[in-house]
Amino acid sequence: MRIVDIIEKKKSGKSLEKSEIDFLLDEYLNNNIPDYQMSAYLMAVFFKGMTEDELAYFTLKMRDSGDVISFPDIDKFLVDKHSTGGVGDKVTVILGSLLAALGMATTKLSGKGLGHTGGTIDKFESIKDFEFSSTRKELVDIVNKTGVGIMGYSDTIVPLDKKLYSLRDVTGTVNSIPLIASSIMSKKLAIESNIIILDVKFGDGAFMKTVDDARELARTMVKIGNNLGRKTVALLTSMEEPLGSEVGNSNEIIEGIEALKGNWSDDVKEVVYYITYLALKEKGEVTTFEEASFLLDKVIEDGSALAIFKEFIKESGGKPELVNNYSLLPTAKSFYEVKSISTGYVNQIKAEEIGIAAMIIGAGRATKEDLIDHAVGITLHKKVGDYVKSGELLARIHFNDEKNLENSRNMILDAYKIQDSQIEKKKVVLEIVE
Ligand code: URA
Repeated sequence: MRIVDIIEKKKSGKSLEKSEIDFLLDEYLNNNIPDYQMSAYLMAVFFKGMTEDELAYFTLKMRDSGDVISFPDIDKFLVDKHSTGGVGDKVTVILGSLLAALGMATTKLSGKGLGHTGGTIDKFESIKDFEFSSTRKELVDIVNKTGVGIMGYSDTIVPLDKKLYSLRDVTGTVNSIPLIASSIMSKKLAIESNIIILDVKFGDGAFMKTVDDARELARTMVKIGNNLGRKTVALLTSMEEPLGSEVGNSNEIIEGIEALKGNWSDDVKEVVYYITYLALKEKGEVTTFEEASFLLDKVIEDGSALAIFKEFIKESGGKPELVNNYSLLPTAKSFYEVKSISTGYVNQIKAEEIGIAAMIIGAGRATKEDLIDHAVGITLHKKVGDYVKSGELLARIHFNDEKNLENSRNMILDAYKIQDSQIEKKKVVLEIVE
């Protein structure tokens, strides 16, 4: 078999045989295919795509390039929720405890933030001495004890994705739906669960800027999962404005704790409730969203979800008392009030710009090597649909270093579109893709 024939075949739009995918990916992983030939193949996929069966096999092959974690020793309904990334997305912080309070468990791999989007690992690492499970055994222990199992990605999980993604990044082939879908799903399939729930975001702050692209990505990933025997569903959710009111790390943990106490931002609640509904429906416990909401309200009102969150923090090395004492979390030295310079209705808050405004004061990373400051972030005091008067508070920047404060302020002011007429406030969850 010759790599050049495989490139020619893909270039002409034909589907590759399993043996050809085996050859391509095995030889590339073993450094026997040079980057320039793999780049040509990736570009051919960019233009010609892959058939459903071809993509499912390609994804499986990617997954099998590294460790696959299964849980024969856990007797719980396992949920893996994955978000394609956004600004202010603290859903994972809240969801694990709710699912556990409802008798289910989370088993998932999470990542660090990059660019304007935040990462779950960074948010929890705001908590002093908190450590995620780093081995399968630790993950099993914490799932059995608390029902919340989150582990960081490691080099042994889908190593092929790391290699391919670095190449895609410098060859203009990141933005290909089959390549994105196989990259995400290979990592999801590397850890066992009873259901994968994908939160595919669309809009300004999302990876997929349009609903159509997000829908296509969601459908492609759902097909890959289901074709490979893993129940997979997706939600299309809006990232046209940041999710909730906090953007950062420590402050997003606080917003998450407040949610578990029943003090929700409406948009965060909508996403969390829909995801839980999909999990409960698959488990066979509910048939409607209303039934799921009733159960969720109960575990929040009776404190059982918050108790699980405390247990998760304790088992991970942190101080559970922080749920009632936020001074145990890192706090920024100062804050700056960003005030509106016009009067009217907030019709848009460009999420990407808010994400970058938070990143440049230290809440995020411009490059993988950057260190982050868990204490800093942005609180949004006005959301889309709100009325604001000139001089009124729009947002607060919590900062430690003044270096980029002015830039951050200007970006926040630019992100807020304030107009005379009020637009209709849309739901965050647009549709369910099954
Ligand atoms: N996220 C991933 O994990 N992979 C991609 O290709 C794009 C986004």
